[in-house]
Amino acid sequence: MSRRRLVYEGKAKNLYEGPEPGTLVQYFKDDATAFNKQKHAIVDGKGVLNNRISEFLMTQLNAIGIRTHFIRRINMREQLIRAVEIIPLEVVVRNVAAGSLVKKLGLTQGEALPRPIVEFYYKDDKLGDPMVSEEHIAAFNWAGQQDMDDMISMALRVNDFLSGLFMGVGLKLVDFKIEFGHIWDGDTQVVLLADEISPDSMRLWDVKSGRKLDKDVFRENLGDLVEAYAEVARRLGVMPENVSAGDDEGGPKLVH
Ligand code: TMP
Repeated sequence: MSRRRLVYEGKAKNLYEGPEPGTLVQYFKDDATAFNKQKHAIVDGKGVLNNRISEFLMTQLNAIGIRTHFIRRINMREQLIRAVEIIPLEVVVRNVAAGSLVKKLGLTQGEALPRPIVEFYYKDDKLGDPMVSEEHIAAFNWAGQQDMDDMISMALRVNDFLSGLFMGVGLKLVDFKIEFGHIWDGDTQVVLLADEISPDSMRLWDVKSGRKLDKDVFRENLGDLVEAYAEVARRLGVMPENVSAGDDEGGPKLVH
């Protein structure tokens, strides 16, 4: 990896300079973090699975007309993406009460929400990604009104489509987080779905058993994270033949 220029180092992914202007290489690491990095481990094979799952979901979303940054998968851990200017917001869509919403509003985990709820969080690790309103976003100019409208309508389309897709393989899409970026198309700025869509950034529960098959397995010490993600990949029909193949960062699990 040292051949290429590192453009950005994230918690679970790195971005490298792409082969052509306007492109980047997104590299999926095996690092798992939770609670703003207070919990960290190397989970062998996670990056390979997230690369595949995100490729599959982005491709499906592209096919129904949702514009994404995804171009193509390059290898087990890398994909070619369009370079976008990331909007510094995390957009969360919830169908079922779980996680921080349960704590905030005193709901019961698993309760169906009356309608999908879209929330914005300002991306700032130092502040712990605080929840913000459209008023904050407009006042501090993190995104324009048109961007917010686009993000909300795209997020709800993603939710409808992915809820159906996952229900078809026996999984309930409880909630998820997505991120968006801008690119210039001629002289107009357009909003694209960016980052990744994987079990790192969503909650998926097995419909029959209620078993959690997402990063809550890591957050709540519920068992083998790779086994859970592999089950998601298998159900989606994108399970790589050998999850550890091409793994250049193997080693024992480190928890600190
Ligand atoms: P929450 O219930 O903890 O607010 O999480 C809502 C959804 O967003 C859940 O699917 C997990 C995802 N998420 C992330 O992808 N990154 C984060 O930093 C957090 C806090 C949540």
